[in-house]
Amino acid sequence: AIVDFFANGAEKPLQGRKMLVTAGPTHEPIDPVRYIANRSSGKQGYAIAAALADLGAEVTLVSGPTRLEAPRGVTRKSVESAKDMLAACEAALPVDGAIFAAAVADWRVETEADQKIKKRDGELPSLSLAENPDILATVSRLKSGRPALVVGFAAETETIIENGKAKLAKKGCDWIVANDVGNESGTFGGDDNQVFLLTNETVEDWPKQSKDAVAQTLATRVAQFFQGVDA
Ligand code: PMT
Repeated sequence: AIVDFFANGAEKPLQGRKMLVTAGPTHEPIDPVRYIANRSSGKQGYAIAAALADLGAEVTLVSGPTRLEAPRGVTRKSVESAKDMLAACEAALPVDGAIFAAAVADWRVETEADQKIKKRDGELPSLSLAENPDILATVSRLKSGRPALVVGFAAETETIIENGKAKLAKKGCDWIVANDVGNESGTFGGDDNQVFLLTNETVEDWPKQSKDAVAQTLATRVAQFFQGVDA
């Protein structure tokens, strides 16, 4: 009967809401064959996109390079670099809510070489780095068209809650999902995640659970947020 209920087109809690999700790493090119990257698999962000879509949201998933298939009912925009990810996010606006789970490279190589950099005996190339745009901070601080709910992640290897709170303030978002990405945690690439949900008022300690379960709980919280906004 419950299945019929949904199949008959009953309203899901995020029906009519547009959501933006980022996921995966970015690749910052050094030359045509090399890049700077990180260990993100995209699993956590993809699970969030799927969970939001399950609750009826219209989801745009801006994804760095991953091996994952786009979740059913989600529009995926594939990008490589942080600059491209920012442009794809801006193109997806306006949205009601945005969740930034991507592991965006903080730095890129200042000037990408046109040709493969040659290995020369006894000579080491030096890479000069430039700072990438901060997508989360850019969207959080939009003067007009800021999403009603902006959620960032904090990937930390120590003093997770403190560092997460500092990021909440610095980036100007509404919530931070802080997670341990130390070597022992297995968060990068693994199937499980242990997170804290931080708001300006509260700290919640969620148990270690699957990334799918983290995503479903977070999507439910997003739905509750919008129900409160409507009320
Ligand atoms: O992909 P998985 O293997 O499933 O792993 C999941 C995860 C560990 C990548 C994910 O849970 C996570 O923590 N994502 C954020 C990783 C990160 O880059 O954290 P950060 O603390 O460096 O960045 C803080 C926030 O700012 C993040 O929301 C990030 O998306 C955003 N950011 C960072 C830099 C930048 N230039 N632009 C951004 O938008």
